Amino acid sequence: MSISLPSNSPLLQSNFTFGVATAAFQIEGANQLDGRIESIWDRFCATPGKVLNGDDGSIACDHYHKWQEDIDLIKSLGVDAYRLSIAWPRLMDKEGKANPKGISFYRNLLEQLKANQIKTFVTLYHWDLPQHLEEKGGWLNRETAYKFKEYTQLAAEELGQWVDVWTTFNEPWCTSILGYGEGIHAPGLKDTVKARQAGHHVLLAHGLAMPILKKVCPNAQAGIVLNMSKAYPADNEASSKMASLYAEALDNHFFIEPLLKGQYPNIIKALSPELIPQIEEGDMDIISQPIDYLGLNYYTCNHAKWHPELKRQTILKPVTEVEYTHIGWEVNPESLTQLLLELNKEYALPPIYITENGAACDDKLIEGEVHDEQRVRYLNAHLNAIHNAITEGVDIQGYFAWSLMDNFEWAEGYSKRFGLVYVDYETQKRSLKASAKAYKELLCSR
Ligand code: FCB
Repeated sequence: MSISLPSNSPLLQSNFTFGVATAAFQIEGANQLDGRIESIWDRFCATPGKVLNGDDGSIACDHYHKWQEDIDLIKSLGVDAYRLSIAWPRLMDKEGKANPKGISFYRNLLEQLKANQIKTFVTLYHWDLPQHLEEKGGWLNRETAYKFKEYTQLAAEELGQWVDVWTTFNEPWCTSILGYGEGIHAPGLKDTVKARQAGHHVLLAHGLAMPILKKVCPNAQAGIVLNMSKAYPADNEASSKMASLYAEALDNHFFIEPLLKGQYPNIIKALSPELIPQIEEGDMDIISQPIDYLGLNYYTCNHAKWHPELKRQTILKPVTEVEYTHIGWEVNPESLTQLLLELNKEYALPPIYITENGAACDDKLIEGEVHDEQRVRYLNAHLNAIHNAITEGVDIQGYFAWSLMDNFEWAEGYSKRFGLVYVDYETQKRSLKASAKAYKELLCSR
């Protein structure tokens, strides 16, 4: 089981960055320690029926205590970079003042990564909004964007020295649509129209944070991470073709178009004007200022069919036989290449990093080994898909496997394992899976 790329692949050149990724809430634990305040995910986990098996983030991978060991682990994989997130509720108290213990946790972590020559990709918001801000409306409240600006200022001033690449937001689609539209993620609200307003406020917050990052950290890169999938027509009906375009507008272009063109998609304006958020004067200029890079998280693709009442329906099961991962997501590496080429045609893209990509597998640790053959194939196929996109002209500068290790997979709790490294949650022992070994072998062969 190995990962191989064409020997002349740009991915194997020294300027291509390989990394692994995690997020604070998914790995840290210690959610009541050292002044960390409550986040919307603590509240969501504590609400019966929201997270599978009632799992929560109180211990997770205990990374808050095991961070040194985890840096050794990261280092051992031969990666160039590590993508992590900072927990807003750990860095700042309710009054908006710095939490010294939170700051020193991240400072130590980042300092140690730099001491190990590992580049740091730091996300400011990977979904853990302080609960007290949710009580004032969370992302439905425009004011939250200005609170995010204050948090960015603090993070940049206190930690900027050790950050190579800043990300304002991870996946605004998940925050707004899953969190405020579908109720699947915290805070668990279900209002499709308001969810779009939440999305606008997230984009606005991104735009408000960008100049701060550029000013306080002039040597770092700054940008945002979007999750995207292609949607294919589920069948040959003309209306399904329409549904697929509409699905891509709602899921992808609603977020990328304001960032890169300063407007929301026309197709949404035409088909469901109620989904276009309220925009104040100047918002679109704030949102669309230049970014140094765009991060893209890619896992799967969708199949859409028109539903006259819902105005669209995305069905997951395609007619032909395809492979799925343990979380039920279709494996389709060609669709990653296609997505990248289409985006490149449609937009003047900044350099791209693939900031997340990976597979959930039903991993079993047997005598210290995990034979995650599907994950190795998945990584191999997607890295080659990226190779193909670069060959066809897309400027892609790096790739991060999701995830460094198994962790709290949001509404799925600990039931879904995405790690290259297996975590035994009873003992907190970490074991390299076959995929970690294959990834390491590829990286060390460069
Ligand atoms: C992405 C999230 C990440 C992880 C993967 C599987 O949407 O950014 O935290 O849960 O999915």
